[in-house]
Amino acid sequence: MDIHEVAWSDEEGVRRFAAVKEAVRAADAPWEHPVLARQTAGVLRYGWDGEPAGSFLVSVDGVDVATGEYETTSYDNQHLAWLGIDVHPAHRRRGHGDAVLAFLLDRARAEGRTSVGGNTWDAAGPRAFAARHGFAMKSVEVNRRQHLARVDRVELDRLHADALRHARDYELLRRVGATPAAELPALADMTAAINDAPTDDLDIEDEVFPPERVAAYEEAQLSVGKTLLRVYARHRVTGELAGQTVVVVEGERPEVAHQHDTSVVRAHRGHRLGVLLKTEMLHWLAEEQPQVETVDTWNAESNDHMISVNQALGYEIIGRGLAWQRPL
Ligand SMILES: CC(C)(COP(=O)(O)OP(=O)(O)OC[C@H]1O[C@@H](n2cnc3c(N)ncnc32)[C@H](O)[C@@H]1OP(=O)(O)O)[C@@H](O)C(=O)NCCC(=O)NCCS
Repeated sequence: MDIHEVAWSDEEGVRRFAAVKEAVRAADAPWEHPVLARQTAGVLRYGWDGEPAGSFLVSVDGVDVATGEYETTSYDNQHLAWLGIDVHPAHRRRGHGDAVLAFLLDRARAEGRTSVGGNTWDAAGPRAFAARHGFAMKSVEVNRRQHLARVDRVELDRLHADALRHARDYELLRRVGATPAAELPALADMTAAINDAPTDDLDIEDEVFPPERVAAYEEAQLSVGKTLLRVYARHRVTGELAGQTVVVVEGERPEVAHQHDTSVVRAHRGHRLGVLLKTEMLHWLAEEQPQVETVDTWNAESNDHMISVNQALGYEIIGRGLAWQRPL
């Protein structure tokens, strides 16, 4: 077995890496949007927020059978490494999953990590594989999709107007793209509100968001040709940032969008800002990005509040994921 790290600049390596990921997607999660090589190169280069995962292509006798991913962050959670293993559907049950996991665990041990985790779809194979390797299920995460053509616009306007009545002390602002440097510290403080989203039984610390991390996240999204739309709410009297919602529209497939953070700072909860931010975003998308057809989102199954907002806005379940973790 050959396991080698793929550099973002290695066009052929990225193409092969993306081809394995695409075969896995088509077999295990056909509702997901196809994996594109150019986007994959961007993910390998920038990751989510500037710290890309180590990405490995696994081949046997010249045939690509699997990928492995190894992700850590320098900002927080120094005990943890997050692992990804995708075995090509035509090459399963031959021990490749075991071998890739052993490789990734060795790296985590060498770095002194004391905990490892990973995400899978909720399916028999991953459940059996995780159990065999001593991983415990720590969280259930649900993937939902909103089809914008099916959104009930009358209901949307009603929800928006109703939320506005509860949120008179706040003004809504829209921003496309990168946040000006002077505003990054306040935005970074607000971003930390995402730590209040439930993490169930996962052994993870709160994430730390210095301004440079928020800037790196924006840069990572924008450098791969995506459009970043941020709606935020500001308290009129104090000028404090109270909440935000972020949607990213793909560059290569501008009909596809993804929901990123939605969060309201604790001191400003209870004013329907969650609904207000998301309904404002839908109005904005309709005005400025009318080609967007779908918005995908992930929530912990236990996140009742965010899910009730999403359900009111017509999100439908497309997949169920599991988060696993074990000590090392
Ligand atoms: C889960 C996954 C990684 C397993 O890869 P694999 O190469 O088929 O796994 P291995 O051949 O190394 O299997 C090792 C053992 O795990 C268990 N196992 C793996 N797949 C299983 C399945 N579908 N049903 C039951 N047991 C399974 C078995 O005990 C197996 O040993 P055996 O074949 O001798 O019975 C693979 O199915 C996959 O890529 N799934 C999609 C992505 C994913 O969920 N990855 C999870 C890790 S992040």
